[in-house]
Amino acid sequence: MGKIAQLNPRGFILSGGPTSVYEPGAPLAPTYIYESHLPVLGICYGMQVLTKQLGGQITPGTRHEYGHAILHLSEVDSPLFASLPSSTPVWMSHGDQVQEMPPDFTTLAYTETSPFAVMGNGKGIFGLQFHPEVVHTPEGKTILRNFVYQICGCQGNWTIGNFIDESISSIREQVGKGKAISALSGGVDSSVVATLIHRAIGDQLTCIFVDHGLLRREEVERTFNVFRLNLGMNIIHVDASERFLKRLQGITDPEMKRKAIGEEFIKVFEEEANKIGKVDFLAQGTLYPDVIESASSGSKASAKIKTHHNVGGLPAKMTLNLLEPLRYLFKDEVRQVGLELGLPEEMVWRQPFPGPGLAIRIIGEVTREKLEILRAADWIVMNEIKKAKLYRQLWQSFAILTDVKSVGVMGDFRTYGYLVSVRAVTSNDAMTADWARLPYDLLAQISNRIVNEVPGVNRVVYDITSKPPSTIEWE
Ligand code: XMP
Repeated sequence: MGKIAQLNPRGFILSGGPTSVYEPGAPLAPTYIYESHLPVLGICYGMQVLTKQLGGQITPGTRHEYGHAILHLSEVDSPLFASLPSSTPVWMSHGDQVQEMPPDFTTLAYTETSPFAVMGNGKGIFGLQFHPEVVHTPEGKTILRNFVYQICGCQGNWTIGNFIDESISSIREQVGKGKAISALSGGVDSSVVATLIHRAIGDQLTCIFVDHGLLRREEVERTFNVFRLNLGMNIIHVDASERFLKRLQGITDPEMKRKAIGEEFIKVFEEEANKIGKVDFLAQGTLYPDVIESASSGSKASAKIKTHHNVGGLPAKMTLNLLEPLRYLFKDEVRQVGLELGLPEEMVWRQPFPGPGLAIRIIGEVTREKLEILRAADWIVMNEIKKAKLYRQLWQSFAILTDVKSVGVMGDFRTYGYLVSVRAVTSNDAMTADWARLPYDLLAQISNRIVNEVPGVNRVVYDITSKPPSTIEWE
């Protein structure tokens, strides 16, 4: 309870999950949750957990119920249902089901197949059989809002502006007169972190921008213009492209590329950090999904430095305190913070770009010549996608330089050139992705421009595979 009590909770939400309460080791809720007399909302698996723990019965599912159902309210006055129509569509996805409610519970709503689609005990404990958090439950947000505001009594006064003010004062307090460093990549998270910390401690922050030579056209210049000119930050720009290219010589295996780039990155970063003298803090763009995934050791004391997926692992032996001001935010909130801090829209809405950069979009060995070809092709893809106003709708859109060469004809001449693939996907979180149904005319324009404007390329294909089974990147 210690950790949670410190947060002074107003209530608990027990989330859904894939397990059955009957499985050995199935997660249950700590009993203090029920003993706290605070409101509890169990969703799907969470409902089954509280049913089991409070003395009800669950039937093991023989059949999975998946899809739309219509919820009918039987207790329209429940505060959980404020502003809800008497019937509303909900999304079901469960195997097990409540057979007998725990003592003192009554049914508040039902569907055709679930007599206990919503149950409550009149003392603030509720269970929902369906999923209020998905888009297929149109009134789901209202239900969650009712729980949080009406039942738990929360106020919803968290705003981006308050967040920025509070972060600035806590960063100042934490850092004192110390010095902080940060790896700047030009991506959204590292840019927002650097800007926020700079706002708090000014020149006590130094950003290190390691240019590994695997970036896209104009990427370095654009990042620099924003930060040094517009925001006046201390930035060390390390042009390490020669070093990285050399290190990548002869490497064709994707994971070996990643490893080589990660290791080299750490070396360069450390060398530069050592030049600054004594440094006390390392700023990182850790977001809440990373925190959930790694349940990391927290931001205090000589924290273990988590492998950063964007830079391929930062110096493990540097015993620095971590500054992670975004660790409770999701990506969309980070973008809002960026906008509020005055970062240009172009930077805030950038599509994700992998830490190893173009190296994993060149199949086979990375060479200077291939980097130039890919940069030129990628520039066209980006340009056309932006012109078509599709850039923000797509999770990622880019070019890949394959190691396939094929025969073509240009004018009266036979050509033998590279095959470029175009990849554009929609996704919410990169875990799964669908290939984007780009308009044919746009694909035609991209293809024409690439073969006409990029020397060495005579064929363009469009990748029409989703993830899974493919991944977004080709390597
Ligand atoms: P995949 O290719 O696994 O990519 O479907 C999922 C997301 O992760 C990005 N990605 C990487 N990012 N270092 C990174 O910083 C990497 O080694 C790496 N590999 C893939 C990819 O761009 C996509 O957004």
